[in-house]
Amino acid sequence: MHGNPAFTRRRVLVGGAATVAVLSVGGFATGGRPPKPLPEPPAPAAPTTHRHSLTAAERPVHLLGPDRPVSPLWTYGDAPLTVIRARRGDVLEARLENRLAEHTSVHWHGIRLPNSMDGVPYMTQPPVLPGEAFDYRFTLPDTGTFFFHPHCNTVEQVGRGLAGVLVVDGDAPQPYAADLLCLLKDWRLDQATGRFLDFQTDAGAAKAGTFGTLRSTNFADAPTVRVPAGHDVRVRILNLDVTRISQVGVMDAEAAVIAVDGNAVSPFPLVAWRMGPAMRLDVVVRAPAPGASARVVDYFAREPVTLMTLVGDAPAPDAAPAFDPTPLFAPTLPEPDLRNAETLPFVFSSTAINQTIETPTGGTIDLGRSLCLNTATYWAINRQTWPERGHEYPPPPLAELKLGKTYVFELANVTPHMHPIHLHGHSFKVLDSNKVDRPVHWADTVLLTPKERARIAFVADNPGRWMFHCHIIEHQDTGMMGYVTVA
Ligand code: C2O
Ligand code: CU
Repeated sequence: MHGNPAFTRRRVLVGGAATVAVLSVGGFATGGRPPKPLPEPPAPAAPTTHRHSLTAAERPVHLLGPDRPVSPLWTYGDAPLTVIRARRGDVLEARLENRLAEHTSVHWHGIRLPNSMDGVPYMTQPPVLPGEAFDYRFTLPDTGTFFFHPHCNTVEQVGRGLAGVLVVDGDAPQPYAADLLCLLKDWRLDQATGRFLDFQTDAGAAKAGTFGTLRSTNFADAPTVRVPAGHDVRVRILNLDVTRISQVGVMDAEAAVIAVDGNAVSPFPLVAWRMGPAMRLDVVVRAPAPGASARVVDYFAREPVTLMTLVGDAPAPDAAPAFDPTPLFAPTLPEPDLRNAETLPFVFSSTAINQTIETPTGGTIDLGRSLCLNTATYWAINRQTWPERGHEYPPPPLAELKLGKTYVFELANVTPHMHPIHLHGHSFKVLDSNKVDRPVHWADTVLLTPKERARIAFVADNPGRWMFHCHIIEHQDTGMMGYVTVA
């Protein structure tokens, strides 16, 4: 349980033995070899300030195809996807301008930033009303693959496309032959008109969520990308859907996981890895021979679903060394002090309670009065439910943490559904689980499978009020949301 277990066997990280039999990842780290140590990162170079403007507005995009009706996406810029790139230690200055008809904000998912920059309306900043602007400014403390998104009426705002990617470079000791994004997102579209269908349904919210009608990778249908044959390429997979859990793998090429939620891990073969909404996985793939192809797939289906095809571009190297990816630089995260940790239980359950909540001062408030949209509750954390509509009226915190102390959260999913659980402002170590065999790794979101109990640990080193919620957005919106304080 403690430490990083040696890779004495191939890690089959998911259920569904049938799918795993399809996979063959030959010759890499299967012989009981210990995990490679992660090299220490160099000190960050002199910081650069990156200025970006994010203008949230409706913009028409051809999602259904070039000759079909356009869809009214909400985006941060003229390109459907805004990608921000910086290096560790750099300063990001982003001005959000709201040209939507409702309020919004930007939450920088996975970034350990000051609480006032966390982008949660009412909790960490006032909502950015239509016509208003807000300036975000913070230092990027960690390398990795991150993203950003709004945090109110999220099911619709993200459902319409409002999200961007933030890549913080500086984690690779050697460059890769290519560095690709593989951004997974579904869309709930009416095929005839291109308009959006209802983003939330009661039936979906109370179960696994309401699924899109159209899958996409990088806003296209399973794109094909040419990559230098025989070289190692980096693929940054992001699940930015609000609902769908994918089980990603690579067919017809060797592939290894090098980072989870942006945090380096000692490379291990990718067999299949379940990714809930918000989760990221950095993978190194040995590009196929000239003209040959490999596929990034989702095994969470009867037949593997192709998400992206990689085609090898000539010329191939004369003699490629055996596939053996170099680890990324070690994360610079505070190591939990497990011997002096306090353990806190968190139970994720379904619920059916009324619409009033108690305030810390003993009063009650009616969630019917709020600017955000949802009032129904189907879910709870430690029997406390907090629908998104209640951002404006925070209930008592789920826990009050002491600044600088290590906490072990024991997460118990007592529902028959999966829940990707996310904590703001901190990265945590996923220690162990009663059901799923994962290497010990750092993450900001952990996927709890039905009836799973998992333990995560972290140092509460970032003061403020930090959201703690399921990232299946309909679950978050209907009660599986809370917050902890660090002081
Ligand atoms: Cu990406 Cu509160 O979440
Ligand atoms: Cu959930």
